[in-house]
Amino acid sequence: MLERLQKIISAAGITSRRASEELILNGQVTVNGVVMSELGSKADPTTDVITVNGKQLQVCEKQIYILLNKPTGYITALKDSQGRQLVTDLLKDVPERVYPVGRLDYNTEGLLLLTNDGEWANCLMHPRHEVEKEYHVRVRGKIVDQQLKRMAEGIELEEGITAPAVVRLVKDGEQNDWISVTIHEGRNRQVRRMCEAVSLSVVRLKRIRYGALSIGTLRTGQFRYLTEAEVRELTDGPRKTASTTKSASENKVRSRENHAQKRVSQSSTSRKENNTKRS
Ligand code: URA
Repeated sequence: MLERLQKIISAAGITSRRASEELILNGQVTVNGVVMSELGSKADPTTDVITVNGKQLQVCEKQIYILLNKPTGYITALKDSQGRQLVTDLLKDVPERVYPVGRLDYNTEGLLLLTNDGEWANCLMHPRHEVEKEYHVRVRGKIVDQQLKRMAEGIELEEGITAPAVVRLVKDGEQNDWISVTIHEGRNRQVRRMCEAVSLSVVRLKRIRYGALSIGTLRTGQFRYLTEAEVRELTDGPRKTASTTKSASENKVRSRENHAQKRVSQSSTSRKENNTKRS
C-alpha cells in the first residue's frame, strides 16, 4: 500500500514527521535508488527499498491482532500438504501475513487469535503465564460426577499429569451433556485426551474464552480486530480468574453450586439417582 514518505520514515522510528519532511526536501531520501525530494512522494514500505542518508530503512509491518471464530474443517497451519482449508483463508482483506497463536484441531471450533506480533504471541503461549482457555464440550451420553471430578483433579496423560482444571456441567441435554473445561496448559489435543481418559466421547469441542477474551456473538467463520485495550489486557492483565487458582476440590464444589443454579431440565435428585444407577 502506498504511503507518504514522511509517514513511512517517522513510523520507522527514525525521526518525527516534521524532521522527515526536512530529510526529503534536502534530498537525503531515496526510493529504489532514486532521490525523492518532493513532499508528496509516496512509496510502498513493504516492497520498496527506502534509504535515508544511504542507510536502508527497516520498516516495521503494522502489528495486527485478530480474533476469529474458527469453524470445524480448517487447520491452524499456514500450509497443508493434503490441501485442506487453512484458517488464514477466512481472513479476507487482511493483507498482513498473520499466524495463529497456538492451535486448534481440525475438528475444533471457536476462539482463535492470529497476529504478526511474535513477541505478543510467545508471551501468551509461554507456560509460565498460564493463560486460561475455556472450552465447551458436547459429550455423547450422560456424565457422572466422578468423571468431572477426575478431570478437575488431573488426568495422567503420556507426558505427565494435567494441572487442576475447572470442569462443570453447563447443560443437561436429553441425549448429550455439555461441559465446560477450563485449562491453562496448552498440550496437544489436551481436552479430547482428558475426556477420552474418563471414557467420554467428544461430539463437539468449542473454545469460548482465551484469558479475558470471550467469543461473544461473533459468528462462525467471522473475525474481528482486537482493540488496543484487549491486546494489552491479554498480556498485562490478570491471567487467571479465581477459578484455576483454587484447588481441584474447591473447584468441584463451586462447579456443583453453579450448575445447581443453572439446572433446568432435571432436578438434582433425579440426576443423583441416575448417577448412582450408572456408576
Ligand atoms: N484441546 C483439544 O483437545 N483440542 C483442541 O483443539 C484444543 C484443546
